[in-house]
Amino acid sequence: MTCSSQHLPRSAARFFGWLVVVSTSAFSSFAFSPGDLVRASKKDTLNFFGEPLLGAPKGQEFTVLKHQQGSGVVYLAFVQKEGAVVAVTLPEASVEAVPVDAWMFMLRGAQFFRDQRLDDARKLLMEAAKDAAYRQLAQRMITAIEGLGASARPAMQAISEFQSSGASEVAKVKLTNAQRSFISCSLKIREVAAELDGLGYTSLSYALDEGLDRLAAKALPPAVNPGQVSLPPSKLEKENLAARASKAAFSVVRCRQAIAVRRLMEASQYIAEGLAAEPARPELKAMQLKVLEDIKDAEGRCDAAQEHRKRNLGQALLSLERAVKLCADHPMVLKLRDEMSGVLEAKTAPPVTKEFVAAAKSSATESALVEGHRLYTTRCSQCHDLEMLDSRSVGGWKDEVAGMAGRAKIDPAQQASIVQYINAALSVVKAN
Ligand code: HEC
Repeated sequence: MTCSSQHLPRSAARFFGWLVVVSTSAFSSFAFSPGDLVRASKKDTLNFFGEPLLGAPKGQEFTVLKHQQGSGVVYLAFVQKEGAVVAVTLPEASVEAVPVDAWMFMLRGAQFFRDQRLDDARKLLMEAAKDAAYRQLAQRMITAIEGLGASARPAMQAISEFQSSGASEVAKVKLTNAQRSFISCSLKIREVAAELDGLGYTSLSYALDEGLDRLAAKALPPAVNPGQVSLPPSKLEKENLAARASKAAFSVVRCRQAIAVRRLMEASQYIAEGLAAEPARPELKAMQLKVLEDIKDAEGRCDAAQEHRKRNLGQALLSLERAVKLCADHPMVLKLRDEMSGVLEAKTAPPVTKEFVAAAKSSATESALVEGHRLYTTRCSQCHDLEMLDSRSVGGWKDEVAGMAGRAKIDPAQQASIVQYINAALSVVKAN
């Protein structure tokens, strides 16, 4: 991987391969390892090619690609819209390790098995088994993996003895027996993998089934199989399983990213896709709860805005702004906000359009009115919202503008320009 170019291989398989390169000691030491799950310890900005890309709120989680300790920068995986994985950076001072939970131990344990690190797999699964929620499942995986490991070693030993003996009859019998015993342990792995898939743990199921196939290539190579012992076929549709496991992992990453920018409707979509691929995926289920709750909250604020609308448009808009902060891509919230801010604008500072000019019948030129509108909306809204135009008379406005001129730092000509605009706008509002 060359992080200096910041362009990383686009294939999903490569990306999620890295997630597996985990050092079990990484969580206590300061250096982050590729594959570690980390989070922003404070609000900061993600950089891409040294340029600011996007804000990262405190708590946003990322997968580490590389930690460049010398430069104090951590490279993090970021999935772009089109699905390409790129490296973004955060200063190491803004990054902290996410405590590993039981699920992560399960997942990484299974992935270690897939990558033929049987002892590491056992260790992590034992950690997972400390959690009551995963105890039984982890135990079954450990038993199956230990059994398989114990039968794979003698099989591999017998293979080399068989070869060095020049295929002697004694060595052949020994090898066939060892390979048969490997097969009977394989059945257990296939069973547990099928069980995991049935429970909705696609990623665990895939890692286990695939790990067995890889180990069988060593313990049961087609070329050295004098007893014609055959590996029990997978009970699963492997290709489909692999695709679903990858889909689920991608959904988790994209969902995290969408939540960070409060695009909760988009996040819901990723959650739905992810859960279709891996129905029991714990990160997705946890995010689903939070997302649904926040969307409901945003919709509640939308209802409140509807209620306030008649009595207090400003208050209603405030409710909607809060709703947008919660959920930035909710069509109903956005539509209502646009609608209400349009209404508010029409009542406080309508823009100078052809229709406006026609309705105003002002003696001022259009460009003078445009300038008055610009001054009024920029200078007079710095400290407070603009008031309803019909809240006072032309004379009342003139006094207010004069009274506020010092605060707004505007000269008499600018004052006159604002008053001219307000006069015109007031006549437009009254005409409507
Ligand atoms: C530097 C801050 C600031 C700026 C700029 C400013 N205002 Fe104000 N405005 C205030 C404050 C503070 C009040 C609250 C009442 C007060 O202290 O007079 C206020 C009150 C008002 C009120 C309500 C007065 C009432 O009696 O209810 C109006 C109307 C108003 N401003 C209009 C304007 C206009 C028009 C401009 C632009 C020419 C303007 N303001 C610019 C600070 C500002």
